[in-house]
Amino acid sequence: MRSITAPVAAPVAPGRFPLLGHLPQLAVKRVEFLQSVRAHGDIVRIFLGNRPVFVLNSPQAVHDVLLTQSRKFGKGLLFDVARPFIGNGIITSERDFHLRQRRALQPAFRRDAIAACVGTMTDIAEEQVSAWRPGEVIAMDLVLRRLMTAMLVATLFSTERPDGADAVAELGERVGEHLTTVMRGVFVGTVLPAPIASSPALGHRRYLAAAAALRELADTAVRQAREAGQERQGGTDRGDLLSIMFAATPGNPRGMTDVEARDELLSLLMAGAETTSTTLAWALHEIGRRPELTERIRTECEALPAGALPGAATLPFTERFLREVLRLHQPSWLLMRRALEPVRVCGVDLPQGAELIYSALTMHRDPAHYPDPLRFDPDRWLDRTEKDLPPGAYVPFALGNRKCIGDHFAMTEMLVVLRSVVSRWRPRPVEGHRVRPVVHALIRPNALPMRVSSWPAD
Ligand code: HEM
Repeated sequence: MRSITAPVAAPVAPGRFPLLGHLPQLAVKRVEFLQSVRAHGDIVRIFLGNRPVFVLNSPQAVHDVLLTQSRKFGKGLLFDVARPFIGNGIITSERDFHLRQRRALQPAFRRDAIAACVGTMTDIAEEQVSAWRPGEVIAMDLVLRRLMTAMLVATLFSTERPDGADAVAELGERVGEHLTTVMRGVFVGTVLPAPIASSPALGHRRYLAAAAALRELADTAVRQAREAGQERQGGTDRGDLLSIMFAATPGNPRGMTDVEARDELLSLLMAGAETTSTTLAWALHEIGRRPELTERIRTECEALPAGALPGAATLPFTERFLREVLRLHQPSWLLMRRALEPVRVCGVDLPQGAELIYSALTMHRDPAHYPDPLRFDPDRWLDRTEKDLPPGAYVPFALGNRKCIGDHFAMTEMLVVLRSVVSRWRPRPVEGHRVRPVVHALIRPNALPMRVSSWPAD
């Protein structure tokens, strides 16, 4: 007789094609497909070609893998594919090395360090939005990509560059273009078998060239920061991220080598630029559709006392609004893990080496936890916090030992940019343009042209 705790096999999702597995569904209906397999169990097997992959469907399964049993999992196929492009930094590395690097980077993401960046973030945002003219149509998706990359570059690649704001903006632009290409290459390499993904017809050489260009930019930044530190006669601590990387830590008395620091820069750029720009693009899309949201955000931001830091305590509605954007428009729709040893999750035995997919987006659109899940409603968070939901049901920044290190940094940047935009402008959609989600490594709007008009004089 089978006991209640006996393991069950993960069912195979319907619609598997010979040789191709579920690739056709994943290619055409990516998110809808992942959402459809949720009906078949907590954990369901799909096939990428002949390669089986387990999809985590319930909050409990996600929570178990990301947090409770996190030590039994590595980052998996997606990050194996990313490693040759971006090296062995915090997002791709594993185990002890990852822990050492994460601890070394942590000081840059403490609340006081983030607070110290708010001035730079605000200057960059203000410079951008003050250049707009009333009635102008802004390609908001592209502008935000440039802006958020420049913001990250200015805070990561040192805030004291002698060549000034224009150089940072230009560097941000170059980095942004290469990043988008590399992220696409990583996505293609994950879902397609290696011989197909690496074919020139699919742009493999372009991905490699973009990765090489990005490495070169990061190498230069590391070299310049090292030289600037030496000029200061051994005093390398300028409080920026590169100085933090060079500093000795208990786990690493010599600080990071140049290659390690370069790889960390690449990891942070990869993790921190497009995620925020895409989330903000969706935020402005929602604002454009609902002008009353702009009014509420503006009123709240205008009441923020000078010198007060933007955050949940000071801008509660704007923070709730962003929390809802991260729910409905979670940019990371597909992330992976790999079982490092045999492990049981939600009663399903997973063999060592099993590849797993989790999607925060499908968790965030579950009607069991979010009534009318496709409705955008910041006030659904009014009387409820993440703690009122089952663990694993709201995971925009993941959980556990691989949780986003930049969550507060990202929220601060996004609040700063929203404040700058809405205090000057009312962004509206452009008639005749339909915003559609485009799904690659992240889910972003196909294009987001918006017309900005100024507020009537009070
Ligand atoms: C809205 C913006 C952002 C979202 C939605 C987001 C989301 C995430 C998620 C879901 C993960 C976990 C990935 C996984 O499970 O494999 C992650 C990891 C990470 N994020 Fe973010 N992120 C954002 C912004 C940022 C920013 C601004 C930075 C840095 C400046 C950053 C740095 C990182 C790093 C370094 C990791 C890897 C942490 C580790 O493995 O130890 N992220 N992020």
